[in-house]
Amino acid sequence: MKPVQKSTPSAIVIFGGTGDLSKRKLIPAFYNLFIEGWMPESFNIIGLGLEDYNDDAYHQHLLNGLTEFSRSGEPEPAAWHAFKSKVHYLKSDINDPAFYSTLEKQLHTLDETRGARADRLFYLSVAPHFIGPVTSNLGRTGLANNPQGDRIIIEKPFGHNKETATALNDLITGIFPENQIYRIDHYLGKETVQNILAFRFANALFEPLWNRSYIDYVQITVAEQVGVEQRGSYYEGAGALRDMIQNHLLQILCMIAMEPPVSFEAEEIRNRKVDVLRAIRPIKHEEVYKYAVRGQYGPGWLQGKKVPGYREEPGVNPDSHTETYAAVKFYLDNWRWQDVPFYLRTGKRMQEKTSSITIQFRPVPHSTFPDKYADNLTPNRLVINIQPHMDIRLRFTAKKQGLEMSLNPVEMVFHYTNTTTKTPEAYETLLLDALRGDATLFMRSDQVLTAWDVITPILENWEAHESLDFPNYQAGTWGPENAEALIARQGHTWTSHTMGKDDDC
Ligand code: BG6
Repeated sequence: MKPVQKSTPSAIVIFGGTGDLSKRKLIPAFYNLFIEGWMPESFNIIGLGLEDYNDDAYHQHLLNGLTEFSRSGEPEPAAWHAFKSKVHYLKSDINDPAFYSTLEKQLHTLDETRGARADRLFYLSVAPHFIGPVTSNLGRTGLANNPQGDRIIIEKPFGHNKETATALNDLITGIFPENQIYRIDHYLGKETVQNILAFRFANALFEPLWNRSYIDYVQITVAEQVGVEQRGSYYEGAGALRDMIQNHLLQILCMIAMEPPVSFEAEEIRNRKVDVLRAIRPIKHEEVYKYAVRGQYGPGWLQGKKVPGYREEPGVNPDSHTETYAAVKFYLDNWRWQDVPFYLRTGKRMQEKTSSITIQFRPVPHSTFPDKYADNLTPNRLVINIQPHMDIRLRFTAKKQGLEMSLNPVEMVFHYTNTTTKTPEAYETLLLDALRGDATLFMRSDQVLTAWDVITPILENWEAHESLDFPNYQAGTWGPENAEALIARQGHTWTSHTMGKDDDC
């Protein structure tokens, strides 16, 4: 597809410009958009940080990041030269109100050089407690005073609970209108997650079956092999429920369960998603144990290497009760999904890295085949693999070749890699959308707050009752045993790690 460049210039300011996210994701995303012709013809990036860098040192820092993390690998010298000439560094104390006049001057100088005021994109890749002060300073100084073109992107976590998220939201929306605020959830930018909308609403085949009459249950798994790495101190205050379920997994659930939108307008899609969150049956405090399971990894083995337990990770309390695994069963109270369980699970230090969605269809109402063949009459199953495998697999039953009427499960597979060689990273999609002012894949305030409502009873219950059995799963396994029990009560099993490979059937 030929890139469509935005015609107005852009000035991008990254708060946290020397941080990990900038190095691993943001700069590689801008760079890839640049080399593929998607960036506006005229743009600048100003990275803010506390380090004593000059532009050259900052460029070297970014180049190291690009070489290590960009999907396009080490930059080609001419392209890198052209890109870096647009990137500047500004040493900053973002808590100091005086700093914002320095930033204003720099933005003004760049505008004068290009002869036009650029649309401004402020990316807040900073610790949560800076978001309020930075937004207030941006408001006070009028740095983002063009409501049509200036935008503020806010990284998760958005609040620590419903109360703090509401307070943060009130503060930000008291300064800027909702249409200038882009709350990012990078899962929504993943190619395979976006494709859920195409799969469901650009095909006539699946939607008639997409309901309680045909679907037995749904599973969403986001399993990671990594531990908490250097983020122990952040993770201690977060845990798997806040870090992953409140945002990424609930957003995927919305894409799977939403009603067909009337149009592809941002508000329409976001309305349909928030309907799903509002339909999730509240879990009673005293029943949390029936619906949610938590876990924490102990030492174990992964890919032949011994890895430490969570309590031994840097920045982690040796008696920590923070969960690194969470599994939850939700029900949606609406006509489409009544009584269909949605199982969500996520964990660190799991046996495999895999994110997938399993739609398990009901068995056929009556078996026409003799008993001796009926064993292989397995219900249909659709698996949407998000990462690292990127495919969609439909399992159905076929006749085994031969003289008897013997049955066998087989799969039809759609591989993304067969259709494209260049899959954009989630941040590329989202940053381009933000530059263009398309908020469809960003979280509206009511989505964020309703997602907090959904997990609050579990959070409160877990905070009130420390787990007695942590660590309760070994690194390199599929999580605690009681996660199996959570879904076994309905006669179900977690499926994604036994499915999704070519040789499964
Ligand atoms: C982040 C979480 O939002 O998502 C991390 O804070 C997690 O803990 C990461 O590792 C997973 O993202 P991805 O794209 O690697 O699946």
